[in-house]
Amino acid sequence: MSTIQLDLSQIESYLTTSFVGRSKANELWPEIDSTNTRAIQLAKDDAPSGTIVLARKQTSGRGRHGRIWQSPQDAGIYASFVLRPTCAKEDIPLYTLALGVAASRAILSVTGVEVGLKWVNDLVVGQKKLGGILAELITSNSPALILGIGINLELQKKDIPEELVNHIEWLTNITGSAVDPNHLIAELAQNLEEVSNNISNGNKSQILDAWRKHSVTLGKEVQVISAAGNKTGTALDIDESGALIVQTTSGERLTLHAGEISIRNLDGSYS
Ligand code: BTN
Repeated sequence: MSTIQLDLSQIESYLTTSFVGRSKANELWPEIDSTNTRAIQLAKDDAPSGTIVLARKQTSGRGRHGRIWQSPQDAGIYASFVLRPTCAKEDIPLYTLALGVAASRAILSVTGVEVGLKWVNDLVVGQKKLGGILAELITSNSPALILGIGINLELQKKDIPEELVNHIEWLTNITGSAVDPNHLIAELAQNLEEVSNNISNGNKSQILDAWRKHSVTLGKEVQVISAAGNKTGTALDIDESGALIVQTTSGERLTLHAGEISIRNLDGSYS
């Protein structure tokens, strides 16, 4: 399938935002270690809110829990956004959920594909992982939130580790035709600006409700995996800060913050 090349001027021509993607500090790299690492550097150098870092390929793409994010050339969207939230500190975790909502809206509008959201950071389609989000907070003298996202566009089986082959999905495998990454990134920027404004304006419930609507976690039997040990229970809801509420089989009610916790389905399915 022919791939459409990433192009910053094409992305800008699609943009209708007022700050996301409007920065003169935006960057597009043919190859980089990690767009999140670069965005952290730019944020420390005072890049404005809304700056985007993109790459065609990452050599050290990072996922949550220190995992590697496979990032072959032109096989996915590898994007990091620098944001400078003005909301209360306790609302910062909401940005991970909000970017999930923004990504599912952008993917639907560009490709027609319906994406589910697995707490806290996974984009899923039909029980397979399509993408993920890595949020990193910088609390130095120029505080910023870096929101990194990877979306699989066109993977080759050889690029996927053997043990993950049955758990990974990519967009062209569903659509059967090329997906324009420039259009998708512009839509992502548009939707990110909208949800980011929702948080800044105190309209958190719009994001929480949209996330609940797309959720593939709520109502499921889950295993909660943490350094303190594993527990099983039912995922009941998310609270005001985006934390997951789980009723355990032993009768405890847990409020889980993303941190070092991960969630697995008890029936072994991915979503
Ligand atoms: C996860 O599912 O664990 C999160 C994956 C996040 C991957 C993206 S790709 C762009 C950005 N740069 C990185 O190094 N990671 C994020």
